[in-house]
Formats: sequence, structure tokens, C-alpha cells
Amino acid sequence: MGSRFKVKTSAIMMAALVLSGCSNNSSSSSEESETDTTLQALISDANLTGDPSTNRDLPDITDLKAQLGMKLFYTKGLGGDEDSACVTCHHPMLGGGDDLSLPVGVNAVDEDLLGLGRVHDGDGAPNVPRNAPTVFNLGLWDQVLFHDSRVESIGKESGVNGASSGIRTPDSAFGTADTNVQTGQTLAAAQARFPVTSNEEMRGNTFEAGNDNDAVRSALAARLQGDADWLTEFQTGFSSTADATTLITYDNIAEALGEYERSMVFTDTPWGDYVSGDSSALTEEQKQGAILFLTSREDGGAGCSGCHSSDFFTDESHHVVAFPLAGNGKGNINDEAGNDDFGRERETGDAADRYKFRTPTLLNISATAPYGHTGSYQTLEDVVRHYTGPRNRVTEYFDDNGGWCQLTQFSTIAGCAALYPDARTNSLLAISKLESDRLAGESEEFAEDLTLSDDQVNQLVAFLEALTDPCVEDRACLDAWIPDTSDAGPDGLQLNARDSDGELL
Ligand code: HEC
Ligand code: HEC
Repeated sequence: MGSRFKVKTSAIMMAALVLSGCSNNSSSSSEESETDTTLQALISDANLTGDPSTNRDLPDITDLKAQLGMKLFYTKGLGGDEDSACVTCHHPMLGGGDDLSLPVGVNAVDEDLLGLGRVHDGDGAPNVPRNAPTVFNLGLWDQVLFHDSRVESIGKESGVNGASSGIRTPDSAFGTADTNVQTGQTLAAAQARFPVTSNEEMRGNTFEAGNDNDAVRSALAARLQGDADWLTEFQTGFSSTADATTLITYDNIAEALGEYERSMVFTDTPWGDYVSGDSSALTEEQKQGAILFLTSREDGGAGCSGCHSSDFFTDESHHVVAFPLAGNGKGNINDEAGNDDFGRERETGDAADRYKFRTPTLLNISATAPYGHTGSYQTLEDVVRHYTGPRNRVTEYFDDNGGWCQLTQFSTIAGCAALYPDARTNSLLAISKLESDRLAGESEEFAEDLTLSDDQVNQLVAFLEALTDPCVEDRACLDAWIPDTSDAGPDGLQLNARDSDGELL
């Protein structure tokens, strides 16, 4: 890790134990140590170390390229109409996301207001079809990015964030490397080529209208080339004296953005402390939740780690779990047609992949609500209960609980109920797909609904809450990843975010 400026709580606790002369057992009941024995065996069977960031070459936020990337991440100068930046939907104080179910990119009423209260001019409803995932720990992904993995490492080598082989992107055919992404570039850099090309996220409807993605990138690079302050920043960031046209290319913009994101390593969790030997880092309830999480269905557990596997809590693979759809969907097959979201099928063209989405990491999950690819569940309890019976939960969601209108973001939108007329029907189609996959024996990890008591639901939620690094809930700890809010950035377009109370984030 090395990039953090805080004292490890586990170290303090260990020191306190030593000072007070406590042995591990003297203060705990025999039931508790039985719990520890069971849990430690599961940890060792799964080969967990508690920290997925070890043995990786990740930048520090003080690195010059990451510093340049931070300035780029916060500038509205990369938005076609200069009203949206990367940080619009991925702010460190909002869990590396935006706190919304569905993002509001361009044409917001107040472009610098982030999180709840950010609305569109017009009807106020969001127009980006999927939830913004966190950019925290982005450098820990080795295989795929996006909910449908449309940015994908060809070789899927472990430990290198995609940098060892080619990368497939939406600019290349499925399974084929994007020739504009040089080998050695990371998944993070490859991904950073795309948000600027999306009309809803950053581009707007008129910038380079009718032109292709590369035209948009070149036009943005040219915009920055015309600014002497950006040239100074790029010369520093790339330790070079080259001129603006050589240095300020979109490839370099994407690389710097990627390095900033990859510096956001937040893996120092109570769970990690427990795995590395501090048995007091978790409560008994959290330990029971961990046991349920890590124990397979056959052995009477909840089987969560069948998909949320490894120290990063994801298999980087795709499954149908059929969370409800909030919104109009990204589209059915490849084109944007239809108002459902076929997920991975949109990329592979294989109907077997319909409604499959990438397994998300669960690190920092307390800070990244709402959940699922359309942010349709507001709480971790809602998510855990989903696994106890998707058909019943989804039916209740729409019939008894108001569908998407129960979500915090939608609670103030007038005419909410009429927004997405097909969301219920489409959500039930996903449930039917899950059920037919189960009958065909093709849903191994989620072959049956779970039976969980209320206590067990609470245990699982308590365990999930132990997967968050306290740094991400602490403004002072995050300070290094947020540019000075009294500054306007190289181009005067730095987005200094405020919340709905007008407070700086
Ligand atoms: C309007 C909101 C919005 C803006 C602005 C935006 N993003 Fe995103 N971002 C999203 C959404 C939504 C997704 C998920 C899309 C999907 O999976 O189909 C996403 C996905 C990502 C991911 C993938 C994370 C993962 O776990 O797979 C990264 C990385 C990312 N964005 C970085 C950026 C960068 C860099 C910029 C600026 C160049 C940016 N975003 C601008 C909304 C936004
Ligand atoms: C069959 C594989 C599979 C199993 C088993 C599974 N999950 Fe998931 N999980 C997923 C997928 C896929 C998603 C993403 C769904 C989406 O985007 O709509 C997800 C999403 C989540 C989320 C929301 C994450 C986010 O950032 O939005 C949480 C929390 C979660 N799962 C917890 C659990 C728990 C707890 C269990 C065990 C009770 C479990 N999962 C079992 C595959 C699985």
C-alpha cells in the first residue's frame, strides 16, 4: 500500500492488548473462540490475505502523473459543453460514485451540485441508464471494467490491471484488441477514453455532432493544447519539455486519468485487520456474517463467495441475479434499441448472457449506496433480502413499495410513477431468465433461493459493513485526492463540488 497517511487502527489495538497483558482468550467466551476457529479455517481454505493491493505496482497520489490526472478528472474542460467532468459522477466524498441510483451528467440545473439534489433541467429525471460504479480500487481489476465488461483484457493476466496484453473496448469488435490502446496501457486508461464520447455523461448533444469517438477526443485534446497552463501541467506530469501537440494527446490524457484513479487504493478494512490476525477487529455478529458469506450452499452457508470471491470480493465474471431494473435500460442488443438492459449479451451477442452483469467488488460497500447496475436497492439489507427470493422480492418492490419511486433520488421528482412504464415487466423477464437457467442447471452459484433468519440477514449486513476502509468516510483522509477547492484549476473550469446544502464536498 504505502500511499496512506494514517495510523492503522489494528496496530493501536494490538499495542493496547500487549500493554494490558491480555491473552486472546481471557476476555472472550469459548463460543467466541469457536467462531474464530471456524472463520479462520474458511479464510485459509479460500487463501485470503485480507489485502488485495499487495504485490501490485500502483501509483501514489503524490506521483506527478497522478497529480496531473487529478486535475483532468476535475475539469469541466473535458465536457463538450464544459458542464460535466469525470468527478461529476465519481467524487471521493461520494464513495467514488455519485450517491445516486442513476447519474445526471450534462445539462444539470446546477452543474457543481453533486449527489442527492443534482437534477436535470427539464423534468428533473436522470438520463444515464446505469448506476455509476466506484472508481476506488480501480487498479485492482485485472479482467474487465463496466457493468457489462465492455472494456476487457484480452489476456486477463493477474496482478497487472490489464497492462500485459491488448484491451478490447467499445471501439473494437468483441474479443479483439482496440488498436488505439497501446499494449502496456491499463484497463483504467482504456476506460478513460469513453466517458467523454457519451452524450449523456460529458459530450452533450452538439459537440462534434455526427463525428466519431476519435474526433471528439482530438477536439478535446486541441482545446487543452490551446491553454498554456495545461502545457505546463502536462510537462510536469510527464516530466517532459515537449510541445503541446506532442504532449497533450488524448492518449496521454487517458493515461493520467487512469493513474489518478489507480492511486485510490482503499483496502485497509476491519475485515483485513481480522484476516491479518487481529481477532478483535470484528464483532461477533460480523464474524457470524463472515462465516455465512464464506460457507458454500452445500455446507449450509449463504454461498456469497461463490461469486464475490478472492480478497477483492469479485470473480470478475458475469451472472444473472436479477436485481430490479430502475429506469429505461441501456438497451437490448448492441444498438441502443429497446428499453430493457440485456447486460453482457449486448457485448457477446449470446442470448445465454442475457441479464448477466459483472460481479461488483464489495470493498467500501457502505459508502457506495445505492446498489446494483441501476441503483435499484437503497440499502444493504434490501440487497441481502433479494437473495432470499428474487421473484417475491421484485414483485413486492414494484407492487407494494413503489418501485423506483421508493429510492431517495426519486422521492422529490414529480410524476415519478409514470417515468418507466416497462421497468416492472422487464425486471420480471430477468427473473424468468434466472428461473429457466436454474432449471437447465446453468445457475450453479445461485441455484436456489436462500433461507435466512432476520438474525442472519443482520449478520451478513454487519459483515458487509466491515469491508469499508474508514478513510473513505473521512474528509481529512481523502484530502490528497481532492484538489484545493479555493483554486479554479489550470483552465478555470475545475469542478469544486457542493452538496445540496451548498457545503463544499
Ligand atoms: C454522468 C456520469 C458520469 C461521468 C461524467 C463519468 N462517468 Fe464513469 N461511469 C458512469 C457510469 C454510469 C458507469 C457505468 C456504465 C456501464 O457500466 O455501462 C461508469 C463507469 C466508469 C468506470 C468503470 C468502473 C468499473 O468498476 O468498471 C470508470 C473507471 C469510470 N467510469 C471513470 C470515469 C472517468 C475517467 C470519467 C471522465 C473521463 C468518467 N468516468 C465520467 C458515470 C459517469
Ligand atoms: C451468482 C453470483 C452471486 C452470488 C452467489 C451472490 N452475488 Fe452479490 N452480486 C452478484 C452480481 C452479478 C451483482 C451485480 C448485480 C447488478 O449489477 O444488478 C451482485 C451485487 C451485489 C451487491 C451490490 C454491490 C454494488 O456495488 O452494487 C451486494 C452488496 C451483494 N451482491 C452481496 C451479496 C451477498 C451478501 C451474497 C450472499 C448472500 C451475494 N451477493 C451472492 C453476484 C452474486
